[in-house]
Amino acid sequence: MSDSTKPDTEVADYLARYGNVGFEDFRRMAADDKLSAWEKIGFPDSYRKGLEQDIFLDIARKLPALDGQQQIIIDIGAGCSDLPRKLIDRSIAHRHRLILVDSAEMLGLLPDGTGVEKVAARFPDCPTLIASLQGRVNAVLVYSVFQYVFAEGNTWAFLDACLSMLAPGGSILIGDIPNISRRKRFFASETGIAHHKQFTGRDESPTVSFNRLEPAHIDDAVIMGLIMRCRNAGFDAWVVPQDASLPMANRREDILITRP
Ligand SMILES: C[S@@+](CC[C@H](N)C(=O)[O-])C[C@H]1O[C@@H](n2cnc3c(N)ncnc32)[C@H](O)[C@@H]1O
Repeated sequence: MSDSTKPDTEVADYLARYGNVGFEDFRRMAADDKLSAWEKIGFPDSYRKGLEQDIFLDIARKLPALDGQQQIIIDIGAGCSDLPRKLIDRSIAHRHRLILVDSAEMLGLLPDGTGVEKVAARFPDCPTLIASLQGRVNAVLVYSVFQYVFAEGNTWAFLDACLSMLAPGGSILIGDIPNISRRKRFFASETGIAHHKQFTGRDESPTVSFNRLEPAHIDDAVIMGLIMRCRNAGFDAWVVPQDASLPMANRREDILITRP
């Protein structure tokens, strides 16, 4: 069955199965031949199909080193869809050194190329790589990955290791962060309620609960804490929106960090 003809029930089953995943689950999903490339990275096909060019353009606007020549780029949690393939093509064309970090199973699904290195590891459990890149990396990409790092409890070690690798003038994009506070603001708004009704086809408002614990979810406090940690370590850091054309731009956001 092709990706586009999978019935909705199959997507629903898949989400029920893979809604709450971590690094080891992704490793198993990468090896599961029944899943599409997008399902292997935890998305129903409809969330990414036909949209990865726009996502790549949004990323490239935020990481100017991708446009340069012979830069050092690292993609942490590269996955196996068209997005890392676009980064590989760009890196070969611009003679970058591109380091892809993910499980061996995930990286095995990506093509090789001149200047492309694959490091099979759960970042930051790769001290030799991190030590070899101290202060040398021009662009770090962490796209749709940080929520899993946060849920697995490795937030600060992960962030500090990313910061330590950044060269002067370099940038880190921690992108596509699902911020549950932002999601609640959206679904409590008139626009969000109308969006929910249109999406479900029912005349019902979404249920939004404030003032309660949200285990394993990133909220405004986490986002602001990340920004403060970077700034206190001597980096500039901002919360930036995604381009409005992106599939989850109304409830996800990016953190952009630069080393002065
Ligand atoms: C949702 S996918 C995103 C893939 C890709 N960045 C994209 O946006 O298309 C998350 C990926 O991050 C990887 N991952 C999760 N935690 C990681 C970690 N600590 N170090 C390296 N990779 C990680 C998973 O194996 C998976 O491939």
